[in-house]
Amino acid sequence: MGPGALTQILSALRLPAHPALLVGPAASDDAVVYRLDEHTALVQTVDFFPPIVDDPYTYGAIAAANALSDVYAMGGRPILALAIAGFPETLEPEVMSAILQGGADKVAEAGAVVGGGHTVVDQEPKYGLCVTGLIDPARVTTRSGAQPGDILLLTKPIGTGLVTTALKRRAVDPAHLEAAVTSMLRLNRHAAELARHVEVHAATDITGFGLLGHAAEIARQSGVGLRIAAGRVPLLPGALTYAEARIAPGGLTRNMEFVARDGYTQYTAGVSEAYRLLLNDPQTSGGLLFALPPSAAADLQRLCADAGQGCWPVGEVFAGNRIEVQE
Ligand code: CO
Ligand code: CO
Repeated sequence: MGPGALTQILSALRLPAHPALLVGPAASDDAVVYRLDEHTALVQTVDFFPPIVDDPYTYGAIAAANALSDVYAMGGRPILALAIAGFPETLEPEVMSAILQGGADKVAEAGAVVGGGHTVVDQEPKYGLCVTGLIDPARVTTRSGAQPGDILLLTKPIGTGLVTTALKRRAVDPAHLEAAVTSMLRLNRHAAELARHVEVHAATDITGFGLLGHAAEIARQSGVGLRIAAGRVPLLPGALTYAEARIAPGGLTRNMEFVARDGYTQYTAGVSEAYRLLLNDPQTSGGLLFALPPSAAADLQRLCADAGQGCWPVGEVFAGNRIEVQE
């Protein structure tokens, strides 16, 4: 669902506050945080979607990596997951098993376990997880702490929406697809663990609203402006080609309109149409976006380089209330 429609629905709800709910619906962050005691809180999230690739095992694993990502974005450690699935009655049992197995194996890779789940009959397959993690209540990374002068670091290249749309239209180069699948399968666990060694002001993961949509959530919730250097944003192989050919996923235009509304996002003239598409491309199991002080950013870049973890500076935070996209 698009960011505009979602905001409208949520704003109409009256949800009670609770003293244990440290990050709840009013905060609208990646996951909710529920305090158990002084040192421990639960961090919980749910995510599911229709198949994004043809292979059922890979689809299950990608959906799981994507669902786990919100726990990592908050700085938490996943411990337990429940599967949530909708399957057509006509779907072969082996295919359903493969989807569930892919998810369970990815959860195991995260050091957590699938404890069960629930399935319903649905015309189009859907699969995902409800994930529970643990977090120190004093060390929660929300979207609301970015400060002017902070550096923005991104931990995965973007373009999964464009590449998988090319797959749907049978126009994808197999090498491009493989790179996108490898990226989507990669857990954000490692990046999140490395980030624990430095001072992070704000974090989120890049998923359906695209890089600019999720950056805008940090900007709005932190009360700051963001400057994005389009040319420094890492791209998956082939993503630019598909953007130039306008092989764009359905949600892309919606994302683009949402961040552009009322002139909130301004592109300098040199930012090409293809790049505008890329920056708004809905991601599946995208990377983490961190806002952190320059010295911490330098430390995290060094830690990531040593560990073979991708980490790209893509912009900076300034005192303002808009997003500026430069070449
Ligand atoms: Co998220
Ligand atoms: Co999510």
